[in-house]
Amino acid sequence: MHSLSVLISGALLGVFGIIGAGLVGFSHVLTDERIERNEREALLQQLQVMVPAGRIDNDLLTDVVDISAPEQLGSETTRVYRGRQDGRPVALVLSPVITQGYSGPIRMIVAANIDGSLAGVRILAHRETPGLGDKIEIERSDWILGFDGKSLLRPSAGEWKVKRDGGVFDQFTGATITPRAVVRGVKNSLDYLHDNKWRLFESQPPAENSDG
Ligand SMILES: Cc1cc2nc3c(=O)[nH]c(=O)nc-3n(C[C@H](O)[C@H](O)[C@H](O)COP(=O)(O)O)c2cc1C
Repeated sequence: MHSLSVLISGALLGVFGIIGAGLVGFSHVLTDERIERNEREALLQQLQVMVPAGRIDNDLLTDVVDISAPEQLGSETTRVYRGRQDGRPVALVLSPVITQGYSGPIRMIVAANIDGSLAGVRILAHRETPGLGDKIEIERSDWILGFDGKSLLRPSAGEWKVKRDGGVFDQFTGATITPRAVVRGVKNSLDYLHDNKWRLFESQPPAENSDG
């Protein structure tokens, strides 16, 4: 009898263990999905702010091309959104990843006008420290707006740095690593766009076109 109850207890423990592990795994999947959905919503919202509908007459969300430039843009594939007016190139938006911020990757969107000036930069996701590195978020400070209108010529290549390194961009008090990484990430994106923008407008969209 005694050994039977031990067996039953053991079996029950095993069953609860399996259910528990399953629940944890399931909630992990749900969390990942939610993060992805939030990021996508932020992207869509910000795209419309940086490239307003009045400036383009095509559907930016479906006029896309997927490119691979991991060295400059941080991930194996990067989606590029193309804005046109009467068929003429107006703006390009891409979502590079800075692989090493202070605490991990920082996902951004960089929108550039066809003349090479920035229409805007926004942070989609990051793990920087609240109160320090998170001032890159537009919800926390207007630092990110400092990129508006900048290009590879203004400021000059040597000034694409935080002030502490001799450049023109502010760092934050006690937190230089995060803004330094973002400045470098934006500069890399502009370099990539400068070298590839005409080719990007000519490339065919991926066969299975989605708006993500
Ligand atoms: C707990 C902790 C969290 C920090 N988080 C950040 C951060 O998110 N971003 C950042 O740039 N620096 C962060 N720092 C500060 C960096 O370690 C580093 O000192 C700083 O970026 C260098 O800038 P400074 O030379 O202006 O002090 C953090 C430091 C500590 C102790």
